[in-house]
Amino acid sequence: MRSSVRGKSSNPSDACWGRGPIQRCVETLSNPDFLCGHDFRARQESRPTLEDGKTDAQLLHSRRSFLKFLAGSPLVASIGWPLLTSDRPALRVQAAEVAAATEEIISSPELALNVFDLEAAAKAKLPPAHWGYLATGVEGDATLRANREAFSKYHLRPRRLIDVRQIDQATQLLGVDLKTPILLAPVGSQKAFHREGEIAVAKAAEKQGHQMILSTQTTTSVEEVNEARGGPVWYQLYPTSSWEVTRGLVKRAQAAGCPILVVTVDQLTGRNWETYQRFRRADDRDCSECHSPRVFGRHKPMYQGLNTTGVTSNLFAGLTWDLVDRLRKETTMKIVLKGIVTREDARLCLDHGVDGVLVSNHGGRAEESGWGTLDSLPEVVEAVGGKIPVLIDGGFRRGTDVFKALALGARAICIGRPYIWGLSAFGQAGVEKVLNLLRLELELAMKYAGARSLQEIKRPSVSP
Ligand SMILES: Cc1cc2nc3c(=O)[nH]c(=O)nc-3n(C[C@H](O)[C@H](O)[C@H](O)COP(=O)(O)O)c2cc1C
Repeated sequence: MRSSVRGKSSNPSDACWGRGPIQRCVETLSNPDFLCGHDFRARQESRPTLEDGKTDAQLLHSRRSFLKFLAGSPLVASIGWPLLTSDRPALRVQAAEVAAATEEIISSPELALNVFDLEAAAKAKLPPAHWGYLATGVEGDATLRANREAFSKYHLRPRRLIDVRQIDQATQLLGVDLKTPILLAPVGSQKAFHREGEIAVAKAAEKQGHQMILSTQTTTSVEEVNEARGGPVWYQLYPTSSWEVTRGLVKRAQAAGCPILVVTVDQLTGRNWETYQRFRRADDRDCSECHSPRVFGRHKPMYQGLNTTGVTSNLFAGLTWDLVDRLRKETTMKIVLKGIVTREDARLCLDHGVDGVLVSNHGGRAEESGWGTLDSLPEVVEAVGGKIPVLIDGGFRRGTDVFKALALGARAICIGRPYIWGLSAFGQAGVEKVLNLLRLELELAMKYAGARSLQEIKRPSVSP
C-alpha cells in the first residue's frame, strides 16, 4: 500500500519524507509538539519521480485499485469510508464529494473544483503521520463529523428578482476592516506541511485579502509573518502553566503590532487522537531529527528568549477565568476567547470584559461532545445579545456553510484544515486557491439569497 505511492529516501536529511527502516515519530498523546525542520524541497520537487516512474494512466489505475483496497481497509473504515453508505443523507453527500475528489488527484491548484480536491492532493503528498495529525479528531471522530453534519440541518431560502450584480463581502470586526468574513484559523507547525509554512500562508492571505490568525505554535516568528503579510496578523495564545511565559508571548505579539489576542481555552492536556495514532503507526520514517529529544519549544520561535524552565507543554489544564482577568489588565490588545460553545460561558465572557467570542471545538480535536459548532452557535449568539461579536469555526468547507453561519448570527468564520490542504498540496498557490473557491462560493450563495452585503444576510435567509 505504501510503496505504491511513495518511494524510499536514501538522503538522511530527507528522512522525514523518506521511508527509513525505523519507526520513530514518537510523540506523546498529551503534547504532540509537531515540527519537521527538514528541508522539504527535495521531497516535494522530486515527487513525480518518486511514483516509481509510472505514467499518469498507470498512476490513476493504481489509485483506483488503491481506493478499492481502502474501501475494505479497517484503517479507512475507522476514519469514515462507511459514510458513503451511511443512512444519514448529509453524511452520504459529504462523503460523495470527498470520494469524487479522491478519484483523481489534481496536479495543479487551478484544477481544483472545490476544497476537497485539495484535501485529496494533500493526503497524497503528506507523510502518513503528518496527514494523521491534520485529519484527526478525538476518539471516534464523532465531533469532527458533527461539525460537518450541522450544516445540513439548515437550508438556504433563495430570493428572486433582486439586482445582485454587485456583491460586497466587506465588514468591520473588532475595529479591523476585513475584505471578507472568511478568516484563517490558527494552525500550529505549518512547516510540517510545506517548507514555506506560515510565510506561504501569510502571502496568500494578503494576496487574497483575508485576515490570518497566527498560532503560538507557529514555526515562523510573528515578526517575520507580519512582514510577509505586509500588516499585522491576529495572535493566538496558548497560555502555559507559567504566567511569565504567557506574559512574554503576549508582550511580544503586542509589540509586533497584533491588534487582537485570540486566547484558546478549549485544549487541556491529554487528547485521545485515535486517527492520528493509526496514521502514525503506518509511518515508518525516522523522525528523530524533528521530534526527539523532547525539549519544550525547541522548534517554536515564539518561545525563544523566554525562560521556559518547568514548562512541559503549550497546554495547561489549570486555566480559570482569573487568567482572562490578568490578560485583560496586561494587554491593550482586544481579547477573543476561542473555544466557547455554551451560553453559560458566553455570559461569563461578557462578565470578564472579553471583546469577542470564537465558537470552536478545535475542529473536533478537543472534547468528543458529538456536538457541532453550528449547533451551539445560536445559544452563544443569544447569550451575548449583540454586545460583542461572535465568530465561529469547525467544518467550514463551502461558501454555503459560511452563509448559514452568518445568517445564524456569526460575524465571521474561520477555516483550519482547508487552507492547510492547499498549503500541503501546492504551497502559497494552494492556499490562494482554497480562499478563492470559498469566496466565490459565498458570493454565489449571497446572490441566490438576494443578499448584496453581509448586513443583508439575515436569520430568515436560512431555515431548518
Ligand atoms: C493541524 C491543526 C493544528 C491546529 N493548531 C491550532 C493551534 O495551534 N491553535 C489553535 O487555537 N487552534 C489550532 N487548531 C484548531 C483550528 O484553529 C480550528 O479551530 C479548526 O481547525 C477549525 O476546524 P476545521 O479544521 O474543520 O476548519 C488546529 C487545527 C488543526 C487541524
